[in-house]
Amino acid sequence: MSVENKTIVVAGAGGGMGKEIVRLLLADKANVVGCDINVEGLSEFQTEGNFLALQGDLLDEAVVKDMFDQANTTFGGINGLVNAAGIAQRATPIEEVSLKAWHKIMNLNMTMAFLTCREAVRYMKENKAGSIVNIGSVSTTRPRPGLQSYVASKGAIESFSKALALELAPDKINVNILHPGPCDTSMLEQFAKEGANIDEVKDSVFKQSVPLGELLTPIDIANSVKFLLSNEAKMITGTVMHVDGGRSV
Ligand SMILES: NC(=O)c1ccc[n+]([C@@H]2O[C@H](COP(=O)([O-])OP(=O)(O)OC[C@H]3O[C@@H](n4cnc5c(N)ncnc54)[C@H](O)[C@@H]3O)[C@@H](O)[C@H]2O)c1
Repeated sequence: MSVENKTIVVAGAGGGMGKEIVRLLLADKANVVGCDINVEGLSEFQTEGNFLALQGDLLDEAVVKDMFDQANTTFGGINGLVNAAGIAQRATPIEEVSLKAWHKIMNLNMTMAFLTCREAVRYMKENKAGSIVNIGSVSTTRPRPGLQSYVASKGAIESFSKALALELAPDKINVNILHPGPCDTSMLEQFAKEGANIDEVKDSVFKQSVPLGELLTPIDIANSVKFLLSNEAKMITGTVMHVDGGRSV
C-alpha cells in the first residue's frame, strides 16, 4: 500500500485529522501540499523537501485556484486530494439555528469541497488519473439530536462524492467518502451542548456510542485515507467507508 511519489493536496491540513494525514503521507514519501486557513501547526514539516504549506481561506475561489496552481508548479502534477477541513455544530434545537449559522456550516462542510474538487479535477483529467477522498461523518448514518445542519452538510458531501465518482470514472479518477466516528480531536468537544463538561461527555456519550469501546484517533483515519489514495485502491470508487469502531451498525 504505497503513495510514494504521488502529489497529494490535503485541505484542512492543520486540523487534528489533517495533520496526521500529512504526517503519514510524508512518511510514505508522497509530496504533500497542506492547505489551511491556519498553518501554524504545520511548521514541524517545513524542513521536509517534499512538503509545501499554503495558508488561505479555502472558501475563496481565487485562493483555491492559486493553491492548486502552486501545488502543480512545485511538484509537477496533482494525483490526490483529501478534503479534511470543516466545522462542527454545537447541539442546538432547530428553532434556535440562525440562517447565517446554517449557511456557514453548509459552506465550510460542502461548498469548500466543491471548490477544491473542481480545481483538482482540472489537473487530474490531464493525466487521466487521480484519487479524491472526502471526509464526511458517521452522523450521516447515525444522527444525534441538535446536529441537523451538520448532518445535512455531511449528507450532501456523501451524495456529491457518489455523483462525482460516476462523472469522473471515464477519466480514471476515483472519488470516495470516508465517514469517521467520534475522533479525539479538538473538534469533538465542539459538538457538545453549551456549558457541558467535555471530559464527561467524551466518556459517557461519545466513547459509549462506539461498539469497539474507544474513541477514534487521527491515525485511524489517516491509515484508511492513505489506503484510498494508494494504487491498491484503484478499483474502489463511489464507496462509503466507515471508520467508526462500529458506530454506524
Ligand atoms: N472529530 C470528530 O469527531 C469528527 C467526526 C466525524 C467527522 N469529522 C470530520 O472530519 C473532518 C476533520 O475534522 P477534525 O476533527 O480534524 O477537525 P479540526 O477542527 O481539527 O480541523 C478542521 C480544519 O479545517 C480548517 N478550516 C476550517 N475552515 C477553513 C477554511 N475556510 N479554509 C481553510 N481551512 C479551514 C481549520 O483551520 C482546521 O485546521 C471534518 O470534516 C469533520 O467534520 C470529525
